[in-house]
Amino acid sequence: MKWDELEATCKVCTNCKLCERRHNVVFGDGNPRAEVMFIGEGPGEQEDLSGVPFVGRAGQLLTDMLKIIDLDRSQYYITNIVKCRPPGNRDPESAEQDACMGYLRSQVRMIKPKIIICLGRIAAMRLIRSDYRITKEHGQWVKSGPFWMTAIYHPSALLRDLNKRPETFDDLMSIQEKIREVCTHTYPEQQN
Ligand code: URA
Repeated sequence: MKWDELEATCKVCTNCKLCERRHNVVFGDGNPRAEVMFIGEGPGEQEDLSGVPFVGRAGQLLTDMLKIIDLDRSQYYITNIVKCRPPGNRDPESAEQDACMGYLRSQVRMIKPKIIICLGRIAAMRLIRSDYRITKEHGQWVKSGPFWMTAIYHPSALLRDLNKRPETFDDLMSIQEKIREVCTHTYPEQQN
């Protein structure tokens, strides 16, 4: 299947009950040829209304944070574990995650990122380890097959708790370092 076919299939998906209340499927945004991929948990209200991930308050914070390390959406791809909004922004249920994982797997297979960054514990528990502890393990790197993976606090956690921001700043520095180490075209000025 090609990227456009995958997106078209996802946009009419009825694999789980989240399809019943959605306004838009939020497939993903950014550059599908990027070396860096960010994965959150699921769309919120603004994302459901616009069809674009991470555009609400938390998304704006994330966008600003990533600017600190010179990343904009032309240099990464961003999506979620579930592509439709869980009502009231509750955590996506495991059956909903299961129903949606095929899309994410296909996205990862086609993008072939070098680095995958989980945004928050739900994504980290799904993609890194089911007993992942975000408070203890954020910012640590694991090599999983061809991918380098890490997790940072979800930007909504950073909106609620300012004390987590300095640790996240350190994690961003570590992401920048890893990009310099393993990516070849993310930072345009870089020659390696
Ligand atoms: N939170 C997420 O996890 N994903 C979004 O797209 C927006 C908020």
